[in-house]
Amino acid sequence: MAPPEPRPIVNAWNEWDPLEEIVVGRADNANFDPTEPGYRPVIRGTRSAGETFPTGPKAAETIARANEELDNLAALLESLDVTVRRPDPMDFGKPLSTPTFDVENQYCSVCPRDVVITLGNQILEATMSRRARFFEYLPYRRIIRDYWNRDPRVSWTAAPKPSMADDMYRTEFWEFSLDERFARMHDFEFCVTQEEPVFDAADITRMGRHLFVQESMTTNRPGIAWLRRELEPRGLRVHTLHFPLDFFPSHIDCTFVPLRPGLVLTNPDRPLKEEEAEFFAKNGWEFLDAPEASCSNDEMPRHCQSSRWLSMNVLSVSPDTVICEEAEHDLHRLLERRGFNVIAVPFRNVYEFGGSLHCATWDVRRSGDCEDYFTNLTDIPAGD
Ligand code: NVA
Repeated sequence: MAPPEPRPIVNAWNEWDPLEEIVVGRADNANFDPTEPGYRPVIRGTRSAGETFPTGPKAAETIARANEELDNLAALLESLDVTVRRPDPMDFGKPLSTPTFDVENQYCSVCPRDVVITLGNQILEATMSRRARFFEYLPYRRIIRDYWNRDPRVSWTAAPKPSMADDMYRTEFWEFSLDERFARMHDFEFCVTQEEPVFDAADITRMGRHLFVQESMTTNRPGIAWLRRELEPRGLRVHTLHFPLDFFPSHIDCTFVPLRPGLVLTNPDRPLKEEEAEFFAKNGWEFLDAPEASCSNDEMPRHCQSSRWLSMNVLSVSPDTVICEEAEHDLHRLLERRGFNVIAVPFRNVYEFGGSLHCATWDVRRSGDCEDYFTNLTDIPAGD
């Protein structure tokens, strides 16, 4: 009998199978996120009179502190026999002037998770949703070409780039009060209109044959329809998820984080819409609420635009081993009680670059195959 074919060098069907190869972001040349129609960065905590969100390059020490933690994560992963690759440097300080938009500077390459995703043997580059992140695929292109050249089974797809013109955005979104947001919570209309397909890769979470995509500030309904039309002919199922109490949703990995077959780490402040939760319950999946984060939103780094729920932005290296931020002791205990080995690493200095351990990585190869974990009920009853 012929020996079985080795797996493609690009192969990841879910968030938990044993990890073999990964890309870890880097903070070099990072700039502050500029204010733009799809984004309004704010300073956390107390502000002095007239203080505005900084612009331009981040300070060299801020970058060095983040790089130290990113390099430490890379070294840890290598010590676990995982192949680690890093993005190429890019000048994020360069302003962009395109036929449809201008922006004063770009952002950084700390969070590959937002930009690119592995779906089986396919590398998929997201459309992206913000002007400052339009070209953020570039630091990963050499790595992607290398995989594509080395293995003819690797498929490489870049989703159509949106215009990011003024009329792609609903700027009134930023003016709504919290009460208005509460009243509108089931509209699922955020800062991007429904004209052009738009998605960030971090709004997708993978559970074998079934993918779940959050409708958010960074992913609209045409974006999800594009994913469905692209991926369903390949045998995958694409479902939409909604978290009605998240008034500023972007990126699913601080909200709904699958840890192993049958178990999702969930955000107690952001429950999943009822009919959608039923789909998981009927298929025997359990939701495990994350404990309170170790700090409040106000105690997060001043220029960090993500919530304290970065606490649950963990990276699984196998179905029983999870890398967590070192200060999140309650989460460590919870996971240990559920039979996980927890590896704790410092990562706070990466937070102001938009993410924690899951965001700052892009898993390229995990050792499992495509499984169907939703055989009792294959459609979310609400229609998706
Ligand atoms: N926007 C989400 C996820 C960030 C990675 C949050 O701040 O909770």
